[in-house]
Amino acid sequence: MRDFDVVVLGAGAAGLMCAAEAGRRGRRVLVVDHADKVGKKILISGGGRCNFTNLGCRAENFISENPHFVRSALARFTAADFVAMVERHGIKYHEKTLGQLFCDASSREIVAMLEKECGEARVTIWTSTSVAKLGRREDGRFLVETSQGAVLAEAVVVGTGGLSIPQMGATSFGYEVAREFGLRVTTCRPGLVPFTLRPEDRERWCDLSGVSAMAEAKATDKKAPGFREKILVTHKGLSGPVVLQISSYWKEGEAVELDLAMGEKVFGGLLQKNARRDVAAVFAAVKTVLPGRWAERWVAVNAPELGDGRRDFTNAEIAEMERTMHEWRVLPAGTEGYAKAEVTTGGVDTAELDAKTMEAKKVPGLYFVGEVVDVTGWLGGYNFQWAWASGFCAGQVA
Ligand code: FDA
Repeated sequence: MRDFDVVVLGAGAAGLMCAAEAGRRGRRVLVVDHADKVGKKILISGGGRCNFTNLGCRAENFISENPHFVRSALARFTAADFVAMVERHGIKYHEKTLGQLFCDASSREIVAMLEKECGEARVTIWTSTSVAKLGRREDGRFLVETSQGAVLAEAVVVGTGGLSIPQMGATSFGYEVAREFGLRVTTCRPGLVPFTLRPEDRERWCDLSGVSAMAEAKATDKKAPGFREKILVTHKGLSGPVVLQISSYWKEGEAVELDLAMGEKVFGGLLQKNARRDVAAVFAAVKTVLPGRWAERWVAVNAPELGDGRRDFTNAEIAEMERTMHEWRVLPAGTEGYAKAEVTTGGVDTAELDAKTMEAKKVPGLYFVGEVVDVTGWLGGYNFQWAWASGFCAGQVA
């Protein structure tokens, strides 16, 4: 039977970071992954350029039952620490927007960097290897039964990620391990995911698929933050960064409020003395915030018919249009699910873990890192920063 100090389950962002750190301490580390190569999600991330961190990363950018849990790990391994590693490896990068750092060339560079770090730390990596069972022997060591044979380890780090993109090998393995060892797992949902619309809304908007605008989105949960980014109409519903962000706070049956003018008055000019208040004037005003096709449709849906031979809208009608522009209440039918979600919200309850080390309080030697934990970052490089930071912390002690 093979014998290691640490077995890391999952060769993703968190697992590889943890393995390299533990290996550097002289620990004999094995990483096991059922995929045929390491870091597959890193490869497809950020449109192939990996948004690997965010310069403004703070605890407030994460969702968790315990919002304070992330503080310690994020302070111990910061965005600047990861940037220093990227620079040490000569990887060129740029800030796209809002502190988001991307590779200039390709996310393959980040995977190559992690492989090099693991190589230098003498980490053994087994890909295309499944894990049948994880148990604990009487001597306290873990027995990991893999398709390449059984392995003994003093410590096991679970970095098997969340449920998103099952077609790329995502599994519920990490949650099952947690439950088997008596640890609570919070409710999991797809996060950073497009909304689907109900049939009547789909009919109204979805033939505009491909049009986008800026918007502010708010969830029903008033404690949730608002977001101001792009919204995109899709053939099934709504997407774009602002929708992905708010989706992580959304629960089945709740509405989402969208302000298509982000607080700016749209129809103020129409209320001035002697101003034209006809359909053409309304359309011109709407076009200042929405692109042409969307503006046309918005007017068709929201501007009332002018009856009684009237040419102009009344002040009350204009005020109502103003309100509708700022308070578009959308009741999504659902989301596009794990197949399209960038992340999974929920996971191993942070109350079960030590915030400094990621070790399970009830099961010494068992660690959980990355997305499998009930920590979900906003869109914008935060999820990788959590993976690096939590992996780093476990790697210092496992
Ligand atoms: P990760 O999913 O990376 O790794 C888990 C590993 O465990 C995988 O290699 C998997 O094969 C393996 N595994 C699973 N079950 C197993 C089992 N039963 N046995 C063996 N191995 C098993 N974030 C960000 O910050 N910036 C970005 O640009 C993007 N972009 C992005 C795009 C897309 C399309 C997606 C889907 C996601 C993103 N993300 C992102 C999110 C980010 O990819 C994600 O949060 C991290 O990869 C999580 O890292 P982990 O190491 O926890 O899991």
